Amino acid sequence: MGEANNEYKPCYILAIETSCDETAVSVVKDGHEVMSNLISSQIETHKAFGGVVPEVASRKHVESITLMLDEAVAASGIKKSELSAIAVTQGPGLVGALLVGVVAAKSLAVALDKPLIGTHHIAGHIYANRLVQEIQYPCMVLVVSGGHTELVYMEKEGQFDVIGRTRDDAVGEAYDKVARSIGFPYPGGPHVDRTAMESEESITLPRAWLEPNSYDFSFSGLKSAVLNVINQRKMRGDPPIHEAIARGFQESVVEVLVTKAIRAVKSYDVKQLLLCGGVAANRGLRSELSRRCAEEGINLAIPPIEYCTDNAAMIGAAAYLKWCEGQFTSLDMLADPQLSLEDWAANKMV
Ligand code: KG4
Ligand code: ZN
Repeated sequence: MGEANNEYKPCYILAIETSCDETAVSVVKDGHEVMSNLISSQIETHKAFGGVVPEVASRKHVESITLMLDEAVAASGIKKSELSAIAVTQGPGLVGALLVGVVAAKSLAVALDKPLIGTHHIAGHIYANRLVQEIQYPCMVLVVSGGHTELVYMEKEGQFDVIGRTRDDAVGEAYDKVARSIGFPYPGGPHVDRTAMESEESITLPRAWLEPNSYDFSFSGLKSAVLNVINQRKMRGDPPIHEAIARGFQESVVEVLVTKAIRAVKSYDVKQLLLCGGVAANRGLRSELSRRCAEEGINLAIPPIEYCTDNAAMIGAAAYLKWCEGQFTSLDMLADPQLSLEDWAANKMV
């Protein structure tokens, strides 16, 4: 019989995510077992405006968060008193949207007398992979979302070294802007993906490789090239070639992302490549990255689509790192729209 203090006690983290246009609440056991995972999307509301309207996003989060907290706890089968900690996305994201989750998490932490864990949104995207399998360190992560495009080297659990980032638009943002210029509704990424996969024609568009050894990205030149093609055709009275543009755009994006990720994997000699973020749902990227990794003998992990786009289970998985370190966040914590991944990992956040 073991000592009483050595006995295994499950850790149940209630996690809240409100950094953009999804209100999400989840209960995660031991950092990887999803007990409940609720998501309320605001896409229909923002569609009318062609993009996320921050004030509207905050108001929508306020409307749904209380009910969703109750429902996520009920669906998990865990009593509120059994929860171990309350986690919330502290940043990065839209400040007003983040604030709704942060205030809800603080209130719950006080009312239930549970520790609070401020969590980094991108750490969440990365640890979405832990919801489906063990992560093998050292690893390289390709983060592709609406707000971020990064290559992150992780020597060990909880250590993040951002070796490359976008110098202008994030890849999801470029997808959404190109989609808008073609006339697709918000968010246009999935529409461009589908059109690209179905198109038989393609046009050649530029690839932004930057300096020879750089792991940084740039997508604004590509976006402008797409707009030029569309405008020139319009001025000449030529019929639109949306399918070929979607395919050409996707080919350019995928080639750059895949090539840089594989080069990073080889030069850092890692055991695994992880893909994450909303654009990890992209079929073209998933299939080309899988094909190239198989060719190169690289162990690739990609979360299922439900854990690629914003969700709270991933926040519960990342918060578990802090739980294991006993690193809790004070109740005067502030939402931080610019929170850095490295600062969060080093417990340097506000
Ligand atoms: O990670 P995410 O849910 O939110 C952020 O943290 O930004 O990513 C949302 C982004 C949007 O730009 C959306 O258009 C893009 O992910 N996205 C896609 C696909 N599914 C979602 N982009 C390209 N192809 C897709 N299949
Ligand atoms: Zn996200």
